[in-house]
Amino acid sequence: MDAVLNYINSNFSNYVAELKDYLRIKSISALESHKEDIKRCAEFASQKLKDAGMKRVEIFQTGGHPIVYGEWLEAEGKPTVLIYGHYDVQPVDPVELWLSDPFEAELRDGKIFARGANDNKGQHFVHIKSVEAFYKVTGKMPVNIKYVLEGEEEIGSVSLTKFLKEQKELLKCDAVLISDTSMFAEDVPTITYGLRGLCYMEIEVTGPNKDLHSGSFGGSVANPINELAKIISKLHDKNGKVLIPNFYKDVRRITAKEKENFKQLKFSEKNYAKELGVKELAGEKGFTTLERLWTRPTLDCNGIIGGFTENGAKTVLPSKALAKISMRLVPDQDPKKIEKEFIRYVKSISPKSVRVEIKSHHYGYPVVVPLENRAVQIAANAVSKAFGKKVVFTREGGSIPIVVDFVKQLKAPAILMGLGLDSDNIHSPNEHFLIKNFEKGILSSAYFLNEFGRQTPTNSDEEITE
Ligand code: BES
Ligand code: ZN
Repeated sequence: MDAVLNYINSNFSNYVAELKDYLRIKSISALESHKEDIKRCAEFASQKLKDAGMKRVEIFQTGGHPIVYGEWLEAEGKPTVLIYGHYDVQPVDPVELWLSDPFEAELRDGKIFARGANDNKGQHFVHIKSVEAFYKVTGKMPVNIKYVLEGEEEIGSVSLTKFLKEQKELLKCDAVLISDTSMFAEDVPTITYGLRGLCYMEIEVTGPNKDLHSGSFGGSVANPINELAKIISKLHDKNGKVLIPNFYKDVRRITAKEKENFKQLKFSEKNYAKELGVKELAGEKGFTTLERLWTRPTLDCNGIIGGFTENGAKTVLPSKALAKISMRLVPDQDPKKIEKEFIRYVKSISPKSVRVEIKSHHYGYPVVVPLENRAVQIAANAVSKAFGKKVVFTREGGSIPIVVDFVKQLKAPAILMGLGLDSDNIHSPNEHFLIKNFEKGILSSAYFLNEFGRQTPTNSDEEITE
């Protein structure tokens, strides 16, 4: 093991250079215009899996973006770890707010700045380099390895969901290892055991059949922006509760123990507010910020479009207005049920004076993984060893929709070994990843694989318990 750790240390600058190459590829899944980049990125990733010693590497074409699969299955009698990551990235707009080119990674202040540096190229690259180190030093791996790298995470993982259902045998494993979440704070090694789900909707409000002069017509017909604003204002009450009927019906209450665990985490609401530049925090009444973020469902407008938005003033009564709305969900809410309730409620509060159309985007089921699991415990020890600090267990406000499918379809525990920080600006200008987290991530991964290799495989037919 020492030789592997030394190898990682002495090759680290090459890993940064390789990551830079990976980050150069503009693999934006949401934009049709980047389809070729996505393809190139899948090819790049598959080459990296080959370099890491994978005996079989295949790019599976899908109805959407390709899935990169790799395997090395020569550790007879040892468990199998499936490593998941996504090579697609978010769009870069507003590009003028980036201090350096989003696709020409720059190192500043111990961080690597680029779109995808954290989410998720930098984070999953960690697990390619750890495996490669074992391969280069010992010619073998401590466990059997499978990789699944997808190109659609940022747009809902539709193809991978289907792939997983069809390829259960191929993807059979004893644990799924994922780094696509955040650490609780810098230098605080973290294992995440819960993710929120998602239900993403769009409301389009149409009034008159064309834009009108707001003087000649204002007052005679409903204004779609005004009506949309009224609809939005009826989605929450004054205590921050969502007003959609049955919205909270299936929400699992947190246990007293979990509540206590949250309290033990050193979270300062004051610093949090300061960092975000707000005078005071807001949210559902009766819950702490961590409870709101990790255990309560929420509803937020993500974007609103309508009327005249250029500089200056134009007197116009617009024909249309649109809002994009996401709901973050928690166990045991079902995004499909929530979608139905949302549609029914929005229709019920829509006036006849406008036409309201409601469209659904993607879903994601919430998930909580049992902490007692052996693989999770080994991962906790591994991050603790690599970072030289005590590990904390957190839940996460964000979503990784495929995790639930891994857990349900493959019956394998998901290990969420987050290496990012909430301050890394994912989905935002100047996304970055701490170089030291990249390094300690590779070490964490190596420790984990090594230790997990000492376990007897369960072939995922049943869950391993302590
Ligand atoms: N890496 C994130 C998930 C995440 C978000 C982790 C925040 C830690 C903090 C992932 O790539 C992501 O952005 N997921 C989307 C899913 C959606 C597009 C279906 C999300 O949460 O918005
Ligand atoms: Zn993301």
